[in-house]
Amino acid sequence: MKGGKAEVNSNSESKNSKKRKRGSKNNEEDKKKKPSTTSVSQTRKSSNVGNSSKPLSFLDKMKARLSGGHFRMINEKLYTCSGEEALSYFKEDPSLFNMYHVGYQEQMANWPEQPVNIIIQWLKDHSPSLLVADFGCGDARLSRSVKNKVFSFDLVAHNSSVVACDMANTPLESSSIDVAVFCLSLMGTNFPSYLREAQRVLKQSGWLLIAEVKSRFDPTNGGADPNRFSKAICELGFYSVSKDFSNKMFILFYFKKKEKLKSKKEIDWPSLKPCLYKRR
Ligand SMILES: C[S@@+](CC[C@H](N)C(=O)[O-])C[C@H]1O[C@@H](n2cnc3c(N)ncnc32)[C@H](O)[C@@H]1O
Repeated sequence: MKGGKAEVNSNSESKNSKKRKRGSKNNEEDKKKKPSTTSVSQTRKSSNVGNSSKPLSFLDKMKARLSGGHFRMINEKLYTCSGEEALSYFKEDPSLFNMYHVGYQEQMANWPEQPVNIIIQWLKDHSPSLLVADFGCGDARLSRSVKNKVFSFDLVAHNSSVVACDMANTPLESSSIDVAVFCLSLMGTNFPSYLREAQRVLKQSGWLLIAEVKSRFDPTNGGADPNRFSKAICELGFYSVSKDFSNKMFILFYFKKKEKLKSKKEIDWPSLKPCLYKRR
């Protein structure tokens, strides 16, 4: 993973799905065979190694390869299980969360623009009095970067400002929040339940901001139709304000909560394909 372009696996999804099929027998085993906690420091070391000007030793290269493999395994797990399962997965071994985030930051470092920065700027352009909920906050960069009061949620608390929970069930009061943010965090197979939770906690006319990996919304490549996704969210009780497709790696959706939810009909959610990363 280190040293090359971190490329989201949009084009290679079919190749990987073949690999996944080939490896599916071993999949359950792989999931059980979680990397040991010592690998966290290996991952950290390997991520530092690439920043030095010294050529990588064979051992360093092997460590980097191992940590990249761990990251990809955890990433795939998060995209293919429910939030509840992901919560127990990290509860069993919280060090996996750090391992995931070291790999995730390495991937992000290669993106021309990071979606969290766009959301930070959006918040800076709006009133600092808006109350924000960051669903799947990761290292809680959003809350550190704005003046707003931000309630940060993730499966593991990176620091004391984060509430560890499955974001399908946050401790927030109903109709208490002005802006709900999902920045690359609609990972679980039950992602509609996260959006339902956002609908519950948002005030009337509250904002729902979603940034997601572009390849997940590329219908020509097994991704969801963004219009169908948007329609499903509108049926949940929102109206679409805008969509931004201008970034290479991600798209942004901006919604506002409707005054009243008219019908409670069953919503036809599109499935969102996992965002897997290439081995390099
Ligand atoms: C790709 S990271 C993005 C982190 C951060 N939003 C950012 O943009 O840097 C997605 C985060 O969502 C979290 N997440 C995924 N499913 C979750 C769930 N059901 N409940 C809480 N957090 C979840 C993951 O643990 C991970 O930290």
